[in-house]
Amino acid sequence: MIKIAPSILAADFARLAEAVQKVEAAGASYLHIDVMDGHFVPNITIGPPVIAALRPHTRLVFDVHLMIAAPERYLSDFIRAGADILTVHAEACIHLHRTLGAIKMAGVRAGVALNPATPLTAVEHVLDLVDLVLVMTVNPGFGGQKFIKGMLPKIAALRALIERRGLKAEIEVDGGINTQTAALAVEAGAAVLVAGSAVFLSDDPGAAVRALAAVSST
Ligand code: DX5
Ligand code: ZN
Repeated sequence: MIKIAPSILAADFARLAEAVQKVEAAGASYLHIDVMDGHFVPNITIGPPVIAALRPHTRLVFDVHLMIAAPERYLSDFIRAGADILTVHAEACIHLHRTLGAIKMAGVRAGVALNPATPLTAVEHVLDLVDLVLVMTVNPGFGGQKFIKGMLPKIAALRALIERRGLKAEIEVDGGINTQTAALAVEAGAAVLVAGSAVFLSDDPGAAVRALAAVSST
C-alpha cells in the first residue's frame, strides 16, 4: 500500500488544524512537516512550538523532515513536540550513525534524507538503522519546484539494495510530486509520497490526496 504524506509547507499557516483535518479525513497516512533553519537550506519555516500546537488536532503520524544543520542538537525538542518519525539529512550530520542511533534510542522512527546530488553510498552503512529513506526529488528549501526525473534510477537502486539486504526501510520521495510524477516514483519503488503544492494549493485537498493514492496504485 502506498502512503500519502501531505506537506503542510503549502498549507495556510494561519489555518493549519483545518488543513490537517481535511487530509486526515481523505485517508492520508503521514503529515509531512518541513523544518528549515536558513542555514542548511536557504529558507526558514517552523519549529517545535508549531508542531506541539498541531499535535492535539490530529491522529496522523507526524513525519518531521529536518532540513537543519547539526540536527542532533534538537532531537529531544522535536520528540517532545510530537514527532513520530524524525528524518535528518545525511549531509547535515557529521556523525550520522550516532544521530540515527539517538533517534531510535528515544523511541521514535528514524529517517535519513538524501539531497539530489548525494549518492546512495552515503546511507549504505546505516540502512539497517533506519525506518525510512527520503529521496529528495528537488533541492530542498522550497515547495513548488519541478520533479527531477534523474532521481528515478536512484530510487530504483535503493529499492534493489533494501530488498537484497532484506531490510524494512520505507522509501519516501519528496519534491514535485503530482499525479504524473507520483506514478513514475512508485514504479521506481517509492512507497511514501510527499506532496505539498499538489495537495494544499488545490481547491480540494481531500480530493487531491485521493487522486494521488489512486494514481499510485494503478
Ligand atoms: C522541500 C520540502 C518539501 C516540499 C514539497 O524542501 O522538503 O517537502 O514541501 O513541496 P512540493 O510538493 O510543492 O514540491
Ligand atoms: Zn520535505
